[in-house]
Amino acid sequence: PIWVMRQAGRYLPEYQEVRSRMSFNELCRTPEAACEVTLQPIRRFGFDAAIMFSDILTPLAPMGADFDFSQGGPKLQKPIRSEDEIDALHTYAPEEGTDFVAAAIKLMKEGLGDKTPLIGFAGSPFTLATYLIEGGGSKDFHHLKTMLYSRPELLDRLMAKLTDQTLDYLKMQVEAGVDAVQLFDTWGGILHPADYARVVLPCVKRIMDGLKGSVPRIYFLKGSAPYLDLVTTLDVEALGMDWTMDMAKSLPLMEGYAVQGNLDPQALFGSHDEIRRRALEICTAGKAAPGHVFNLGHGITPPTPIDAVETLVETVQGFRR
Ligand code: CP3
Repeated sequence: PIWVMRQAGRYLPEYQEVRSRMSFNELCRTPEAACEVTLQPIRRFGFDAAIMFSDILTPLAPMGADFDFSQGGPKLQKPIRSEDEIDALHTYAPEEGTDFVAAAIKLMKEGLGDKTPLIGFAGSPFTLATYLIEGGGSKDFHHLKTMLYSRPELLDRLMAKLTDQTLDYLKMQVEAGVDAVQLFDTWGGILHPADYARVVLPCVKRIMDGLKGSVPRIYFLKGSAPYLDLVTTLDVEALGMDWTMDMAKSLPLMEGYAVQGNLDPQALFGSHDEIRRRALEICTAGKAAPGHVFNLGHGITPPTPIDAVETLVETVQGFRR
């Protein structure tokens, strides 16, 4: 099967059309519109799974951290850096604060029918912490690392809060009907492995253990290659892989896990022969895993040509047949 991260998004003209009528935040908070853009890539390409349309930062607004997306990247007016600011973030009941997500999931399930499963998701506590502390995207994660190296107990306090909230949020998605969940850890890979093991991994473990026995759990850690020995201590059904890993070489180190990945999203700007060749190489290597879900190694980017995605989907679904 194949789906791609950020498959509902700006590279699709039909998404642009919906976005021309409302802001990104409005889109995430309007169940009918979120449902519509979730279904768009399924209709157009026949992906084998849908991912609910939302953002990893959406569930932070009811905590008191409402990101603005109108300037391009996400921006938080007042970053969260002091003990008081961390304590002022409030945890909430997800069926109250993010009731629109549960409502959207129900509409999406109806729209998808029995054929196409729906993936729910959340950001990992660490990746969420980077956006909260930096107040947006970052190159060097200066403020987060200053906290890590000067007041690690503060970071732990923030992480604990985010972990509780994220587990509740994912449980709500499962209740509402998602068929699998993915935890996005886009920035977990910026730490020394010992810091990853101490700060990040226990929080991921607590969330995943809390969801055990409900739906399949996928952990996507971008840049996970140096942490493979740590990540493979997790009790999850599937691990995401980015394109810096050679699937054939890595799978023996990931025994027992289904895997998801791992074509470089930039490969979609290459020739169609090259897209086919690389996709087939990944499909062939993936047969060594107990399950392989084809994906990109990270989100698809806005300028991606539609016909490159068509070639990719045809190639992967053709391999399956
Ligand atoms: O995959 C999907 O189709 C579901 C939707 C989805 C979005 N964001 C939509 C989105 C998912 C799963 C995400 C996850 C997300 N959001 C992550 C983790 C995965 C990753 O890509 O690293 C992160 C770090 C974010 C935070 C975020 N949201 C950033 C940094 C940005 C701005 C940069 C960018 O690529 O636009 C967003 C905005 C965002 N999230 C858009 C979309 C479609 C673009 C908003 C618009 O329409 O203008």
